[in-house]
Amino acid sequence: MCMKFILRATLLSAVAILGSCSLKTVSYSKDVQPILTRNCSECHISGKPGFEASGLDTSSYAALMKGGKFGALVKPGDAFTSALNMLVEGRAHPSIRMPHGKEKLAAGDIETLKNWVNQGAKND
Ligand code: HEC
Repeated sequence: MCMKFILRATLLSAVAILGSCSLKTVSYSKDVQPILTRNCSECHISGKPGFEASGLDTSSYAALMKGGKFGALVKPGDAFTSALNMLVEGRAHPSIRMPHGKEKLAAGDIETLKNWVNQGAKND
């Protein structure tokens, strides 16, 4: 009886640990939009310098997916060639790394954006 309990408890915690290690599904509304709001939207909404220069509005899913003058920013399933990821990871020309003139995003935020695009850039 006691042994059975210990076994079961060990199994449960193993499942819990495995669960937290595997890649979680990134949510646009819960994970991605807050990163954009914090790091991009002060310049990338109508009337602000980033939006005026590039046409990119980062305040909603629809606006982000529309992109700007330069075209689409997000290629669902392909973070490697998505401009959004190239820019925040510093893989584009250094002069256009975003956020413009500021510190790079936190590593965890960069990773979240990458996983979101690779998981299909869904609006959820
Ligand atoms: C402090 C203001 C500011 C912030 C914050 C900012 N941007 Fe920008 N962004 C600009 C300006 C100004 C331009 C146009 C000039 C340029 O390309 O350097 C621009 C241009 C862009 C472009 C077009 C680049 C091109 O090819 O010309 C993209 C894409 C972009 N920003 C994405 C982002 C993202 C994503 C974030 C947040 C991670 C962000 N920006 C944060 C000011 C900002």
